Amino acid sequence: VGNGGRQLWLCALSVLIWVYISAGAELSFTLEPSDIIAVQEQPLMLHCQVEGIPPITTQWWRNGTPLAQNQNSAIFLNGTLLISRFQKTKADGSSDEGDYECMAQNSFGMVVSRKARVQAATMADFHVQPRSVWAEPAGVGRFQCQIHGLPEPVISWEKDGQPVDTTDERYTLLPTGVLQITEVCEEDSGVFCCVAHNSAGVRHSNEARLTVTGSQSSVYKEPTILVGPENLTLTVHQTAILECVATGHPRPIVSWSRLDGRPIGVEGIQVLGTGNLMISDVRVQHSGIYVCAANKPGTRVRRTAQGRLVVQAPAEFVQLPQSIARPVGTSAIFTCLVQGEPEPQLTWLKNGEILMPGGHVKLRNNNR
Ligand SMILES: *[C@@H]1O[C@H](CO)[C@@H](O)[C@H](O)[C@H]1NC(C)=O
Ligand SMILES: *[C@@H]1O[C@H](CO)[C@@H](O)[C@H](O)[C@H]1NC(C)=O
Repeated sequence: VGNGGRQLWLCALSVLIWVYISAGAELSFTLEPSDIIAVQEQPLMLHCQVEGIPPITTQWWRNGTPLAQNQNSAIFLNGTLLISRFQKTKADGSSDEGDYECMAQNSFGMVVSRKARVQAATMADFHVQPRSVWAEPAGVGRFQCQIHGLPEPVISWEKDGQPVDTTDERYTLLPTGVLQITEVCEEDSGVFCCVAHNSAGVRHSNEARLTVTGSQSSVYKEPTILVGPENLTLTVHQTAILECVATGHPRPIVSWSRLDGRPIGVEGIQVLGTGNLMISDVRVQHSGIYVCAANKPGTRVRRTAQGRLVVQAPAEFVQLPQSIARPVGTSAIFTCLVQGEPEPQLTWLKNGEILMPGGHVKLRNNNR
C-alpha cells in the first residue's frame, strides 16, 4: 500500500470511529416519567430509562433541585425512583408533590427528561349537598350533590343505606352527580345520600328525604320544566350534559333543538333518562344555544328552557414558518397559521425579541 493509500485508509478509519462514538454519545430516553396522582402514605414509582454507552448515571430532580437519597427514596439501577411513603405534607413542612425530572449522564453528555407532575389525590367537602324534596305521585324527584377531588370523584347514590337500583329505568344518575327519579310512587320515599369516591377515599353527603304525598290525580296539568340546561363552557373532547326535567299530566314529551335551527346530529349524542342530552367528545361546532321543549302529547302546548354551550379549543399550529434564503433587495415571507377557539393571538419573534411592524416589516393576518 502506497503512502496515499495508507492516508486514505486512516482517514476512513477515523470517520468510522467518529461515527461510532457520536452514535453512542447520543444518550436517549426509552422511558420518561409520566404525570401521577399519588396516594397519601403509599409507595410511588417514577420511571426513567435511557440508552447509550455505559457507565450511565441517573439523577432525579424535584422542582429544580437534586433529590437527596434518604430512607424514604431510592433510585434503582434501572433508573426508577421509588418514594416508599408518599406524603403531601411532611413533618418539616416539605412535600413529595412537585415536578420531577430525570437526568442521565455518561462520559459523552447529558439528557434531561420531561417534567412529570406529581400531585396528591384529594377529596374536598361537598360544596353542594342534596336537599329534601316532596313530590306528588307520578311526579319527579331530583337530588344533586357536587364535590371537588383529584382524580375526579365518581358519584353514586344510596337510598335507606342501600345502593339505588340503577337498573330501574325511572332512576337516572347523571355524570354531573344529579339523581332524577321519574314517575315517583310511594315506595320511592326514603332517605337518600350521595357517595363520592376516588383514590383519596370515600365521602358521604348529608342525608336528604324524598317524600311522596298526595294521591295521583287525573286532572290536566300544564307541562312545566322543573330544571333546564345550564350554560356550559367546556374544552374540546369533554362531555356535555344538558339537563331537562319536565312534569305535567299527561306526562310531557321532551325534545331538543338548536336555537339557530342547525341539526343536533346523531354522532356522540345520547339521551339520558327521560330528557337529558349528553354530547360526548364535544367539538367547536357543538357550540350553540340548546333548547329543551316539553310538549303536551298530541298538541302544540309547550314550555321551553335554553342553555348556551361554549366549546373552547387550545391554540394549535397548522402551518409553521420555514427557513428561507433570499437575495438582497427582495422580499422574504414567513407564514404561520394557528387555530383555536377563541382565536389565538399571534406574536412574531426575531432572535428572541418581539418583532413590531413598521419600516420594511409588515404583518398580515391571513387567519381570517
Ligand atoms: C426497576 O426495578 C425495580 C426494582 O426491581 C422495579 O420495581 C421496577 O419496576 C423497574 N422499573 C422498570 C421500568 O422496569
Ligand atoms: C345563560 O346565559 C344567558 C346569557 O347568555 C343568560 O340570560 C341566562 O340567564 C343564563 N342561564 C343560566 C341558567 O345561567
